[in-house]
Amino acid sequence: MMITKSVSFTYKEFENAGELISEERELIAEALKAANNAYAPYSKFRVGAALRLESGKIVCGANVENAAFPSGICAERSAISNAVSNHPDDKPTTIAITAINTEGIIEESLSPCGNCRQVMAEEESRRGNKIRIIIACRNKIIVFESISDLLPMQFNGKNLKTSLPL
Ligand code: THU
Repeated sequence: MMITKSVSFTYKEFENAGELISEERELIAEALKAANNAYAPYSKFRVGAALRLESGKIVCGANVENAAFPSGICAERSAISNAVSNHPDDKPTTIAITAINTEGIIEESLSPCGNCRQVMAEEESRRGNKIRIIIACRNKIIVFESISDLLPMQFNGKNLKTSLPL
């Protein structure tokens, strides 16, 4: 018999950064610094991501575009690559993301692209702990408790039936 199933998730919305703890505000400030370092001459949309690792360290990434458009990389994957390359044993626990367009810090919430969701989701699942996502806009901050909330029914290596240590 056919059954209809549904998936839902909740997220939190804050009106200002004062409602967050100081570590979260610090992470947003680092994401903003990273956004200022972005190389985005084509879109003029500079994105910054700051990952907090279990040790407390912060690792950042920015989007790096390229004249061959698909060669560009988003801030979130840039930050994950940075963290995995330099701190392989230190798990990411939180990621703060923000962006600057031609008018300044974005007004509306930025939603990570599908590629970044997939990469962040695998980072979360292979480490076995949730990664919180904090998306900071000019007048609003949105918090998701887990990447998998943003990518339900994600593709994962278990489907491959390989002998990889997943
Ligand atoms: N971008 C990110 O870095 N992160 C996102 O979450 C969305 C989009 C970048 C990709 C490209 O360099 C620019 O923003 C415009 O899409």
